[in-house]
Amino acid sequence: MSRFRLTRTLPEDATDAALRADVLAGLTSTPKWLPPKWFYDARGSELFEEITALAEYYPTRAEREILLGRAGDIAAATGAQTLVELGSGSSEKTRVLLDALTGLRAYVPVDVSESALTGAGQALVAERPGLRVHALIADFTGGLTLPDTPGPRLVAFLGGTIGNLLPEERAAFLSGVRALLAPGDALLLGTDLVKDEEVLVRAYDDAAGVTAEFNKNVLSVVNRELAADFAPAAFEHVALWNAEREWIEMRLRARTAQTVKVQALDLAVDFADGEELRTEVSAKFRREGVRAELAAAGLELAHWWTDGADRFALSLSVLR
Ligand code: SAH
Ligand code: TRP
Repeated sequence: MSRFRLTRTLPEDATDAALRADVLAGLTSTPKWLPPKWFYDARGSELFEEITALAEYYPTRAEREILLGRAGDIAAATGAQTLVELGSGSSEKTRVLLDALTGLRAYVPVDVSESALTGAGQALVAERPGLRVHALIADFTGGLTLPDTPGPRLVAFLGGTIGNLLPEERAAFLSGVRALLAPGDALLLGTDLVKDEEVLVRAYDDAAGVTAEFNKNVLSVVNRELAADFAPAAFEHVALWNAEREWIEMRLRARTAQTVKVQALDLAVDFADGEELRTEVSAKFRREGVRAELAAAGLELAHWWTDGADRFALSLSVLR
């Protein structure tokens, strides 16, 4: 029996219906917006991996540093037999956890990107003869059903991806995660921290333009899936710090007035010169805020670990 299984919990036509609904709602709103999960087709996942290697993009390195220092503590505090990872992507940093979790029987990576799940899952079973990998193509905001694997379970949500959800979405998400946990199970959460504006903005607007290309990839997804005619070069990547909300906002700004046709929706969308399309936020956190958001979902912050430069934090909550 193969130790790698891939389960699609979203039918392909549901993905299509969700994309149509999101694009219709977003492009007919004022201001216009598109939701972030559509960044991650195969090309988007590849571009994100390139971002993680950029000099300006510190979160991946900072989080890996914490994992390297604390994986033993995490293993001791959880005794996990199953590791569930939400938004697992390439599972690169996860290897540090997999090495430390000595009693681990199953790894359950969950992602909307089938290409990322297949690439990561097949590599992991080849490297690790004792491990079963049960990958789920699923939306982590949409009520997950986990496979029946041995507990205790550790649910990891790394990369600061929780910051890509809006506050109300985060509250719903954390309550949903809480509902997946049984006593003795745990949540390991990665959050990027509030810091100097210049450092933050550069992390989302790198000199080589990889983040700009990543941001514009959402236009290519809409072009391909919904027969639209966005010209990515007609939009400029914008990253700015919202000091009141403490989040980075990513936008695409029309370089000139233009009309975009979305054939599959029978829709024509007018952009004024300079008009912005909102694509993503990346919220930055403080310890007290994380503690309060966890508490509101019925989760108690047990450990808070940061890297040496206090750029990023990992928190661990264990359910009693
Ligand atoms: N955990 C990795 C990847 C972070 S990038 C790291 O820390 O480097 C965010 C990942 O979440 C991507 O792989 C993307 O495909 C996935 N993702 C984004 N929105 C999602 C959603 N709603 N449901 C499931 N996966 C999602
Ligand atoms: N989770 C990542 C973050 O918020 C995702 C990300 C990094 C991202 N760079 C981006 C999303 C640029 C959109 C555009 O840090």
